Amino acid sequence: MDLVTEARGLAGALLAEELPRRWSHVQAVGAKAAQVSVVLEESDRDVLVAAAWLHDVGYAAPLAGTGFHPLDGARWLRSRGLDDRVACLVAHHTCALLEADERGLAEELAAEFECEESATADALWYCDATTGPDGQDLNVLDRLDEIRARYGPDALVTRFIDRAQPQIVGAVQRTAKRLAEADRD
Ligand SMILES: [Fe+2]
Repeated sequence: MDLVTEARGLAGALLAEELPRRWSHVQAVGAKAAQVSVVLEESDRDVLVAAAWLHDVGYAAPLAGTGFHPLDGARWLRSRGLDDRVACLVAHHTCALLEADERGLAEELAAEFECEESATADALWYCDATTGPDGQDLNVLDRLDEIRARYGPDALVTRFIDRAQPQIVGAVQRTAKRLAEADRD
């Protein structure tokens, strides 16, 4: 089975029934990644799309360990022997290191999973940060405001979003620029 088919199947099995709203988001992120992958080298495209399908599997109850979904998801993917670059991208998706810091898990996350800085990582963050909880397209700033509103002003996640906004917006802007360039070619 190819990597993307396996990723989509695993994500559906873990999320579709237990977390249907999260599954709507993930399906849209996976579909968006397939479109956005044109900005990447061919060898990176399936890695991006697989990571997009799998980025939130750590929310599934059977995978819960630390309660921090990027780390729980990435550990599970690694334990299954899935492509390790995909596991690392999932571990660090959408500025996870800063949220890990808020949770006292930054050292663990950084020690276990390499943080890739690349057009592929940017593209994953772009797809997640421009897709709302029901799978709708959102401007990145609206998406970050939606998260703040969903969790509330005093939440750890809101504090994380406030710290992470410049990095998330940066990844989105770099990807948007690559998309515009690809469109011109
Ligand atoms: Fe996530």
